[in-house]
Amino acid sequence: MALDYTFSIIKPDAFGSGKAGKIIAHLESQGFTLKAARVLQMSRRQAEEFYGVHRGRPFFGELVEFMSSGPCMPFIIGKADAVPALRDAIGATDPAEAAAGTVRKLYAESKGRNAIHASDSDENAVRESRFFFAEADLA
Ligand code: RTP
Ligand code: MG
Repeated sequence: MALDYTFSIIKPDAFGSGKAGKIIAHLESQGFTLKAARVLQMSRRQAEEFYGVHRGRPFFGELVEFMSSGPCMPFIIGKADAVPALRDAIGATDPAEAAAGTVRKLYAESKGRNAIHASDSDENAVRESRFFFAEADLA
């Protein structure tokens, strides 16, 4: 059965410009339910580990720099088939290519500063949730 929750992060661009509340309200209006949330600033090391799958890509340094540049808001959010549902709701990586009404179309500045992260598979949603949250937070 598909996972009924997924993991996401309001990235430093959106958190720093006061858009976290609007983004959560937008997702709640689409039937998502907030399960757990934190506010923190990632260290460079944490950002490197979190996005380790992209190590070696040309944008990796910029990505790590950006994700550790200020406070962000990791959260766990629930819905049926949560992983694909949230990927649909956030839109394409580059806001210029994101569909109307998606979080990135509404709130992202650029491909690098794109407002929100969302896990891309059930396996990664579990792994990424455990990166920032304790098992008890998922109950
Ligand atoms: P995310 O992991 O943050 O949810 O984003 P995504 O799945 O839509 O995109 P992914 O391919 O996983 O890339 C991770 C993040 O790296 C930055 N990026 N910049 N300048 C570039 O060409 C480029 N490509 C990727 C973006 O911030 C992207 O969200
Ligand atoms: Mg990704």
